[in-house]
Amino acid sequence: MLTEKQKYAKIITLGVEITQVKDLDVLLERILKEARNLVSADAGTIYVKEDDKLKFSYTQNDTLQERQPGKKLIYSTFTLPINNQTIAGYVANNGEMLNLADVYKLPSSLPFSFNRKFDDLSGYRTQSMLTFPLKTNRGDIIGVLQLINEKNTRGRVVPFSKKDEPLIMHFANMAAVAIERAQLTRAMILRTIKMAELRDPKETGSHVNRVAAYSVALYEHWAEKRSVPQDVIDKNRDILRMSAMLHDVGKVAISDVILKKPGRLDDAEREAMKQHTTAGARLFSEQYSEFDEASAVVALNHHEKWDGTGYPGHVNPYDGKTLVGYEQSDGKPRPKKGDEIPIFGRIVALADVFDALSSRRVYKEKWDEGQVLDELKVCSGTHFDPEMVETFFACLDTIKNIGERYPDH
Ligand code: C2E
Ligand code: SIN
Ligand code: SIN
Ligand code: FE
Ligand code: FE
Repeated sequence: MLTEKQKYAKIITLGVEITQVKDLDVLLERILKEARNLVSADAGTIYVKEDDKLKFSYTQNDTLQERQPGKKLIYSTFTLPINNQTIAGYVANNGEMLNLADVYKLPSSLPFSFNRKFDDLSGYRTQSMLTFPLKTNRGDIIGVLQLINEKNTRGRVVPFSKKDEPLIMHFANMAAVAIERAQLTRAMILRTIKMAELRDPKETGSHVNRVAAYSVALYEHWAEKRSVPQDVIDKNRDILRMSAMLHDVGKVAISDVILKKPGRLDDAEREAMKQHTTAGARLFSEQYSEFDEASAVVALNHHEKWDGTGYPGHVNPYDGKTLVGYEQSDGKPRPKKGDEIPIFGRIVALADVFDALSSRRVYKEKWDEGQVLDELKVCSGTHFDPEMVETFFACLDTIKNIGERYPDH
């Protein structure tokens, strides 16, 4: 429980902190966590406006979380129309907040009602609810922030205090600005990938989002097991989310004839294709930020294999020269192996292959889930870091949930 003064001090530093988060998903999670913290809300949801609808985009729930320690909450996304029939819809439609003491006891004179379906499915009891529009400086509503069940010091659910309304309103405005900026960044990345025609435009978004989200899930689980400090995890998730989206951006340097070839590649084509790793790393050669640096690392290392049979090996991507001491007898650089492969490379390697095998490509059919999972097990210790394969199976529920949230169209 924060005092009034602490709350205002906290909100000043939070404004600065959330402005530094660049990835949209990481940002939504952070915003919800901090908003819930400010008012001791047990649960909460963020809806983001998409094509004139509200998309249920992110949710947290401490009570449900406690029932499955160490696992991520599984949820499905859905959309609500922006009209007065639902609570979130009403708030988006009218641009005003709602502070409801008990959503099961709403007067019938109100235009909206509470949908108990989620509670019925989960066994959770939603009671007090504070719902805010996410409004930008221009006054555009880009989403809705919904906080659920304020808990007092004794852990009992109480109505949200009126005193907290301006505080949360202010926080929601800062959040809206940060979300809008993150949406623009995400759109820019996706547009760049589409422009380069790296994939069928219809598919681009889901593929890169899946690889990125799988990577973050793997990293988080791996890092928590190793007791990496939470602030380091938070920063790395943000950086990894965006660099993983760009893992194949070096394919811009590969000719369409090879990239879109419906059949298997011949040896020469395969060699040419391998250059998408070094080409990708070169695109980030300026290395202005940790984000550029991580993107170069991911592009360069995502096809190295744990047993030292991957590519491109110990090479300087900027001049194409083999690093001193790593020349093989055939003149090529020795592939990296084991711990020589940076952790982001080992993570994205697994996420990328899992997604490639689970999807249809111009050159191959989609594999059954069982076959894909068997393949990952078989390749533990050869293609993949065994610890990463273990991590993958430990968070398989989360991985499958991500796949469902980013379906191919
Ligand atoms: P991608 O389609 O995103 O595939 C990424 C990685 O997933 C591949 O890296 C490989 O490790 C794994 N993978 C994908 N499909 C299969 C499969 O059917 N069996 C197995 N065992 N592994 C699979 P890789 O091989 O280095 O390929 C890198 C990229 O080169 C691929 O990205 C794809 O864009 C292209 N590529 C690879 N092989 C072919 C091919 O035969 N035909 C065409 N047209 N493109 C290919
Ligand atoms: C609403 O805000 O009314 C929709 C969400 C829900 O009913 O859980
Ligand atoms: C792309 O960046 O071309 C799509 C992502 C992927 O290959 O998995
Ligand atoms: Fe690749
Ligand atoms: Fe790929």
